[in-house]
Amino acid sequence: MKALLLGAPGAGKGTQAQFITQAFQIPQISTGDMLRAAIKAQTPLGLEAKKIMDEGGLVRDDIIIGMVKERIAQADCANGFLFDGFPRTLAQAEAMRDAGVVLDAVVEIDVPDSVIVERMSGRRVHLASGRTYHIMNNPPKVAGKDDVTGEDLIQRDDDKAETVQKRLQVYHEQTAVLVGFYSQMSGDDAPKYIKVDGTQNVDVVKQEVLSALGK
Ligand code: AP5
Ligand code: ZN
Repeated sequence: MKALLLGAPGAGKGTQAQFITQAFQIPQISTGDMLRAAIKAQTPLGLEAKKIMDEGGLVRDDIIIGMVKERIAQADCANGFLFDGFPRTLAQAEAMRDAGVVLDAVVEIDVPDSVIVERMSGRRVHLASGRTYHIMNNPPKVAGKDDVTGEDLIQRDDDKAETVQKRLQVYHEQTAVLVGFYSQMSGDDAPKYIKVDGTQNVDVVKQEVLSALGK
């Protein structure tokens, strides 16, 4: 299955991605996680991306498109994949379409901006795996530690309140247009468009998403 998750920063894309990738045994392709890994490894891409991400802006389309094309050519993507946080601009969506990537489903997680800021301030992340927690809504078994590895959880540099506001603004200006792009596609290649209310608790969102995907 080839699918993508669409939604504002903090809507719960990474959280739901874990369930979908497990259910369908497909890799998660999170451009945000890939960029954070590049920052940690201090690659030229990481050095360039860090400033942009810390300010809540978007990394250049050509860089992101190249990175994703390379990733989906790898062997573990042969049976499908789940995009998380990609495409994020019309140019990125068109590049995938022009490369012949046919999606089976698009899942939109809908959460109003007013809920997002609280979610971001409580978010904790396991950097190596991308596993995501919330200190109140979705706490790890041991405070500050990843459930699977026991390693430390971190707070993301871009989860400061003012950066979150900027990311929301960028979402509305550049990414929200993809709701129309995908929901209005027609013809044999059109993906199933699934919209869920992302303000419900994590398990309810999970059930709705998996059942709409046929699991
Ligand atoms: P990226 O990493 O993609 O960040 P984002 O889209 O801003 O989304 P987040 O990861 O912040 O949120 P999420 O929807 O995954 O929510 P989560 O599950 O963590 O991108 C970061 C940056 O990289 C961008 O700003 C940009 O600079 C760059 N970038 C990345 N991709 C790019 C691209 N394609 N093009 C250009 N630039 C790109 O959940 C959030 C919190 O809420 C967690 O604490 C979670 O536990 C909690 N939570 C989740 N679900 C629920 C629920 N149902 N109820 C209550 N709490 C919940
Ligand atoms: Zn995420």
